[in-house]
Amino acid sequence: MMICNEVSIEYEKDIVVARQKAREVSKILEFGIVDQTRIITAVSELARNIFLYAKQGTVKYEEIFEEGKHGLKISFKDKGPGIEDVEFAMQGGYSKGRSMGLGMSGSKRLMDEFYVTSILEKGTEIVIKKWL
Ligand SMILES: Nc1ncnc2c1ncn2[C@@H]1O[C@H](COP(=O)(O)OP(=O)(O)O)[C@@H](O)[C@H]1O
Ligand SMILES: [Mg+2]
Repeated sequence: MMICNEVSIEYEKDIVVARQKAREVSKILEFGIVDQTRIITAVSELARNIFLYAKQGTVKYEEIFEEGKHGLKISFKDKGPGIEDVEFAMQGGYSKGRSMGLGMSGSKRLMDEFYVTSILEKGTEIVIKKWL
């Protein structure tokens, strides 16, 4: 059965739910412990960003097959303020100091693919992928 799950982010406790779902789906897909941890860490950071900067949004988990590869795609969507300068924000080190996390740049390093689409005053969509 293909995996497709969604968690909505509105309250801080929803970040824990998003983490738990990341753990659950990465286990079911039989990622190794190290990759499971990478996925959970990236999900924590990006779900927390939704909560902090956009107030609310969704995290969607999908099992994917592409070009003979099998993996997990996770999409983070919000209708928040958007990111003014994505390239700058992705440079890392850049932080409003509101979190001690690894940031978007750190999350990108943990994943195989990482895409950001952000439109000011419309919102942000981040898609991450990890291959088995
Ligand atoms: N979903 C989002 N909506 C709006 N702005 C965001 C979002 N995610 C990240 N940002 C902006 O990008 C910056 C960098 O994010 P990040 O790398 O996670 O570092 P930090 O959260 O520690 O500031 C944030 O400070 C914020 O201004
Ligand atoms: Mg952050």
